Amino acid sequence: MVGTRIDGKIIAQSVKDRVKKATEELKKQGISPCLATILIGANSASATYVKNKHTACKEVGIATKDYKLDANITQSELTRIIDELNADKLVHGILVQLPLPKQLDTFATTSRISPLKDVDGLTPHNAGLLTMKKAALVACTPSGIMEMFDYHRIDIEGKNVVLINRSNLVGKPLYHLLLEKNATVLTCHSKTKNLSELCQNADIIITAVGNRNKFTLTSDMIKEGAIVIDVAISRFKEKLVGDSDYKDIIQKASFATPVPGGVGPMTVAMLLKNTITAASLSSQIV
Ligand code: GUN
Repeated sequence: MVGTRIDGKIIAQSVKDRVKKATEELKKQGISPCLATILIGANSASATYVKNKHTACKEVGIATKDYKLDANITQSELTRIIDELNADKLVHGILVQLPLPKQLDTFATTSRISPLKDVDGLTPHNAGLLTMKKAALVACTPSGIMEMFDYHRIDIEGKNVVLINRSNLVGKPLYHLLLEKNATVLTCHSKTKNLSELCQNADIIITAVGNRNKFTLTSDMIKEGAIVIDVAISRFKEKLVGDSDYKDIIQKASFATPVPGGVGPMTVAMLLKNTITAASLSSQIV
């Protein structure tokens, strides 16, 4: 039986509709939510992602500040800009688009952001709170995936979940969000042995490798009725692809996400939601 497509564009729109209403409410209280983005260098994929984030902000009435910095900027110059934004009362969220050029330290950069403005949930403060079920600001892709499960009323409790990613932006926060919902979570990575066997046993597979030459998830690797969430997006044979071929996977899965049009739009929608949360947080501390 062919499975159900999890359409990220539709679910993202429902999140954006809610964010738009919340933005209007905040504006009535005199708070005009504002997101500052920092893009460093000329990575064309990153530039496209940031542009999409600005377009989405506009759609829901969130103001933006757009910093496009030279690829050769030093760590101390970048720190100065982040400190300025941390101190700016009119800016509620700060996003530094990753990956960074080689001379910059990702941890030093992201952990410089005020935890109250940390819309990526990457600061040690917010990442730590997440492990204790107390985070207000959670990384956007993981929370977007949880929103997809909610939308389709997919019950996670007791399910065997295989995560194929261990990054700070995806795998680690997802691990905690899934654990909170009582899933049994296995985090896999490049050194994991018998990945195919582990996938065969999974009720839910969330994959974010992003290199088809190294890894492709095919229908013969999953069990009948499994749920497949494909987070990856990369260029392969002139096309934008995920880790799996949707047309193949959906023949055997009960639910699956396409690429593009799956997880990607959810990441953007959750960024908007986090910006609203950050704007509300700012009003509670003055
Ligand atoms: N690069 C790819 N995804 C993301 C994301 O969610 N946040 C940031 N800051 N950079 C990214």
